[in-house]
Amino acid sequence: MGTPNWSNRTIFTGDNLDIMRGMNSETVDLIYLDPPFNSNRNYAAPVGSKAAGAAFKDTWTLSDLDVAWMGLIADQEPAIYKLLEAARLTHGKGMQSYLCMMAIRLLEMRRVLKKAGSIYLHCDTTASHYLKMLMDATFGAKLFKAEINWQRTTAHSDSRTFGNVCDKILFYGVSPINADAIRTPLAASYVKSHYSFSDKRGRYRTDNLTGPGLSAGESGHIWRDYDPSDIGRCWSAPKSGKYAEWIDQNIIPGYLEIESVLARLDSLEEADMLIHATKGAVPQLKRYLDANPGQVPSNNWTDISAVNSQAKERIGFPTQKPLKLLERVILASSNRGDVVLDPFAGCATACAAAESLGRQWVGIDLSPKAVELVNFRLKSALGSLYHYGFVTSREDIPKRTDIDAPIHYRQNKHVLFGRQEGVCNGCKMDFPFKIFDVDHVVPQSRGGTDHIGNLQLLCSSCNRIKGDRPMEYLMAQLAQANAPTAFR
Ligand SMILES: C[S@@+](CC[C@H](N)C(=O)[O-])C[C@H]1O[C@@H](n2cnc3c(N)ncnc32)[C@H](O)[C@@H]1O
Repeated sequence: MGTPNWSNRTIFTGDNLDIMRGMNSETVDLIYLDPPFNSNRNYAAPVGSKAAGAAFKDTWTLSDLDVAWMGLIADQEPAIYKLLEAARLTHGKGMQSYLCMMAIRLLEMRRVLKKAGSIYLHCDTTASHYLKMLMDATFGAKLFKAEINWQRTTAHSDSRTFGNVCDKILFYGVSPINADAIRTPLAASYVKSHYSFSDKRGRYRTDNLTGPGLSAGESGHIWRDYDPSDIGRCWSAPKSGKYAEWIDQNIIPGYLEIESVLARLDSLEEADMLIHATKGAVPQLKRYLDANPGQVPSNNWTDISAVNSQAKERIGFPTQKPLKLLERVILASSNRGDVVLDPFAGCATACAAAESLGRQWVGIDLSPKAVELVNFRLKSALGSLYHYGFVTSREDIPKRTDIDAPIHYRQNKHVLFGRQEGVCNGCKMDFPFKIFDVDHVVPQSRGGTDHIGNLQLLCSSCNRIKGDRPMEYLMAQLAQANAPTAFR
């Protein structure tokens, strides 16, 4: 587990790839990301709304495709590379470039997430099936927990096909969810059909008081003329577990201490918790609705609606998600004090929900609007508890403090020469050792580190062209000059 190199309640303005590269490893317990969906739309908040001025592009074209990253993925993550190639063949270059943009960021998220952490990727059917494969390849198919269907609206008319009313949320992680933290009341129809009896204590259903099999011990004895062995069973009045605890706390004080099963039957009888419905048949136990803690939501979430035009929480951000949705995610997969990261923060719904639930949080967005919006939201929510400087706003790339003091990066030249087998990573030509320079793949000015994973050898000529720029610049220059490259 790492130590964060940023403080709680920070919003970074900038590209999340650069920012995450600067974040220490294994420092985050929960990541929720709601990236643009590749839906071919440009989003802009309406003039006059709190979010006015916020806009982002949701289209990817070849020009965005980062050829350098494709090369890096080919080297280090062959499964992801093949998947990106498959997406190009089945769907086209736009999808490939969208997935490449996502892949390179998901790899950073994998690094900053703690081993026991969880990640929820919010998307829609435009790319959800490709993203599922990408998540499998990045986090491991074994860590897949659920594909949540979030029904955000009830109607969406499209006479050409079935109206799409759902988003998808892909959930991966090691730890089980906090089921008790997210229970919801039982559906009225279920209560009606299952808890069909009532008495002075309220609604109840009936349950068996016997278990399977004969017993030679006390649980096989006759109790008040009832012999459970007549029906091949033995007594099984609740002794431990949630219902026994509820009885102890609400109806029969000291119930949990009653060792004898026959004595427990006596106390249940005295407390009017048994039903003698059919003459001669063994009695049944009343199970009260009040004792039911509610149900754990399935993977089909139909009880949270999208932020509509009348909603109090609405601030006019085009893709704002409801607080209730984020609260469920955060309650399910984090505890008080844990760190939540939203790398596509938008109007910072996840940050606001994390704050209200006592979690630490950090958000990143390209748009400077995110800082303004999270401040606005927290100020309205916290009232006098909110003060100047409550939220830290940063535009710099954090410097990792968890990398071993590196040897001077040039000292890696021999290792890199062996790894690259004497071939320049730019023009792909063979050169003698002395012609090579050690270069930062991701420039230091954009958060690139001296770690060997970020170093490569370039021939002097390629190194001169690249200078302090990212690899895509060099590749574009080489392509223009018609030089042979492995990335085209
Ligand atoms: C769909 S919205 C997120 C909405 C958010 N869940 C909410 O409730 O407000 C996607 C956000 O990602 C941001 N974004 C897109 N590309 C980004 C990048 N490379 N780095 C950081 N933010 C980015 C956009 O500016 C936009 O605000």
